[in-house]
Amino acid sequence: MTKSIDQYYSPWVKGIPMYISNHIEKAWRDPSLHRMMSNENPLPPSDKVLEAMAKYSKMANRYPDQGLVVRTKIAEMNGLEGPYNVMIGNGSSEVFDNIFRMFIEPGDEVIQHTPCFGIYGLRGKLLGATMVSIPMIYKDKAMHFDPDAILAAITPKTKIITIANPNNPTGNFMDAQHFVRIAETGIPFVIDEAYVEYSGLGLSQVALTKKYSNVIITRTLSKAYGLAGMRFGYALAAKEVIDQISGSLLPWNVGTIPMWAALAAFEDTESLAKRVEYNNSEVEFITESFKDIPGFVTLPSKSNYILFDCGPTGKTGKDVLAFAETKGIILRGETRKYDSEGWFRVTIGSKEENRLFVATVREFFGMAEATTDSLN
Ligand SMILES: Cc1ncc(COP(=O)(O)O)c(C=O)c1O
Repeated sequence: MTKSIDQYYSPWVKGIPMYISNHIEKAWRDPSLHRMMSNENPLPPSDKVLEAMAKYSKMANRYPDQGLVVRTKIAEMNGLEGPYNVMIGNGSSEVFDNIFRMFIEPGDEVIQHTPCFGIYGLRGKLLGATMVSIPMIYKDKAMHFDPDAILAAITPKTKIITIANPNNPTGNFMDAQHFVRIAETGIPFVIDEAYVEYSGLGLSQVALTKKYSNVIITRTLSKAYGLAGMRFGYALAAKEVIDQISGSLLPWNVGTIPMWAALAAFEDTESLAKRVEYNNSEVEFITESFKDIPGFVTLPSKSNYILFDCGPTGKTGKDVLAFAETKGIILRGETRKYDSEGWFRVTIGSKEENRLFVATVREFFGMAEATTDSLN
């Protein structure tokens, strides 16, 4: 008797479904909705990026090269020696995939700091890893990293430790000294800097890659650069590490158009500065907007999203999401944690969207319109 196809799947991948972001599907189906849920940038690409896209789209009949020009630019921007310190990918999610593939065998452990971005778990499980989730500490209306608990969770099976800095969805940075403590363990340490540009590269941990070959930095153009739909991300590390993890790259994984558009985005520093300034002033506007709602917690954010806990008000995040939906706003829900059902996250939208969001939340909590004119 022949075996059924079920018996041929790798045991650790069996039953893993396709990942679908239902909120993104919904937003594409109805463009009138306010997409305040996926940490996208509300501003469209700059003219310089659009010009590069148009120019290289005319050469779309040709295969791309390995992106030596853009990789050289990235190395320069980060004080690294050259393109051999940089691996590029189709978004930083793909970069994570490439890194994980080069280290993980079924049964290995990956340490993540939760709540965090879901791709680590998705890719880890696909490769048969056990995800070890270390919760952040929620104290004094803020979320705190717990490096001691991360170090204590290391076992002989630990193959990767990953931390986002700043973290999604909490929006905060870990103190620099703790990165050194984790780097010193020698265990592959992936620092996800998807949102670091909102605070500037001065807060990057990239310098650690020169001293510790186990440190790998990942970045993306999906956030401050505003090119989520283009798909471009990269990893920074010691030459020998980039050489090895690049062994898992699919040939021609990054297309000609994204490669050259990314270069244009890096060169257009003025446009990045404007985007960052816009974002940070809108984060401040929203952060200031709910201070008078008793029990409502707004977590301080250094990114393009803000996490809230309305648990102490007696309401749930789910209720806020449902009410926002009646106004055409899609927010992001969060699972129950720290004894609260009150979590939800907003992504910075256009000025109008942010004001609509504030008015909606205030209405939900029975508050009058905020007097925020001075912040407009
Ligand atoms: C912390 C973090 N890392 C990485 C990414 C992935 O970005 P991309 O695959 O678009 O580069 C995201 C996206 O939301 C994120 O929040």
